[in-house]
Amino acid sequence: MNDTRTAQTSAPRIPADQLHAYVRAIWEHAGSAPREAQLVADHLVAANLTGHDSHGVGMIPRYVDSLRDRELKLNGHASVVKDVGAVLTIDGGKAFGQVVAHEAMELGIERANKLGVCAVALRNAHHIGRIGHWAEQCAKAGFVSFHFVNVAGDPLVAPFGGADRRIGTNPFCAAFPRAGKAPLVLDFATSAVAYGKTRVAYNQGKEVPPGSLIDHAGKPTVDPAVMMQAPFGALMPVGGQAGGHKGFGLAAMCEIFGGALSGGYTTHDDTLQQTNAIINCMLSVIVDPNAFDAPNAEAEADAFVEWVKASPLAAGVERIYAPGEPERATRAEREANGIPVDPETWRQIRDAALAAGLSHEQADGWSVRLR
Ligand SMILES: NC(=O)c1ccc[n+]([C@@H]2O[C@H](COP(=O)([O-])OP(=O)(O)OC[C@H]3O[C@@H](n4cnc5c(N)ncnc54)[C@H](O)[C@@H]3O)[C@@H](O)[C@H]2O)c1
Repeated sequence: MNDTRTAQTSAPRIPADQLHAYVRAIWEHAGSAPREAQLVADHLVAANLTGHDSHGVGMIPRYVDSLRDRELKLNGHASVVKDVGAVLTIDGGKAFGQVVAHEAMELGIERANKLGVCAVALRNAHHIGRIGHWAEQCAKAGFVSFHFVNVAGDPLVAPFGGADRRIGTNPFCAAFPRAGKAPLVLDFATSAVAYGKTRVAYNQGKEVPPGSLIDHAGKPTVDPAVMMQAPFGALMPVGGQAGGHKGFGLAAMCEIFGGALSGGYTTHDDTLQQTNAIINCMLSVIVDPNAFDAPNAEAEADAFVEWVKASPLAAGVERIYAPGEPERATRAEREANGIPVDPETWRQIRDAALAAGLSHEQADGWSVRLR
């Protein structure tokens, strides 16, 4: 598991349902309809539950800034701009990604149910957060899915061999559902660490793992401050100095499938984001596993997982995880013990709650109840 999960365990814990209620209250005060506030809270709290604090409630201040900049549009919905049966193109209109991605997956699942497969291109969505959430929505309905995502116009990652930021942290995700069992879910940023994890490390005064960052001069560093204040450095692509060509290649295909094929945009001179908005474009391919001639697919997948887990453990390793298992383990632990939120992140969320329209008394009330 990554450093962020273990580093957070000493922070004060908040029960998931209470944190969910606070997030809903913040967005309802900001002007969201109850369903929108619910979907946003579902997503952010689930990200924390699965251990991805970088994409959890700590995103609220950034979303409130984006709302203030009139970049995040409240109460918007997914709008189908082209429908050719097994291919849907959807515009997110800079509405909450937590709403438009949910709606895009609903439409894609419905179509894949009829046709066996559906490619859904979603463009111009405000931040769609943890991509595993969308793969889990597909898996819950019984569908395999692949997701290629770009973070349009927001370069943070150096290309392999480059020394400045040119690409987004472009996540890739794939999931395989299993009847009566949790799905296998692979979901990662194509940067060596997700940007949000450098924010969490910075807030906690921690270093990031070696091979994750370069400074403004292109020199390797473990100090997350190079991502938070000028002169800015860059994240390395996944694979770092040895295998970074593969991470860079996958990031490039996420950029092109997500940003270009959706009719959205890729990152270059003309599209650099000037505000706090995070704009995601995503190509999702949703497939009915029953459409293949593969009655043993699940048994074969299970046999493979069992086989790799039987490998002798490397020194210092406690167990081998299948894709998605670390998130499930963290979810079980946090559902039982609460979600850790460090004091600096809590302070930032409180400021954002005030900016969203809560009174000081209301914000203090939540702090007293939750801390
Ligand atoms: N919306 C956006 O713009 C955006 C951009 C970047 C990242 N993200 C999200 O950020 C989140 C975090 O990404 P990340 O790159 O930091 O994730 P990460 O480095 O924690 O990797 C997560 C993946 O690796 C697997 N994994 C983790 N530890 C493992 C182990 N010990 N053995 C085997 N498998 C293991 C997990 O099951 C998961 O599939 C993701 O949910 C991603 O979708 C979103």
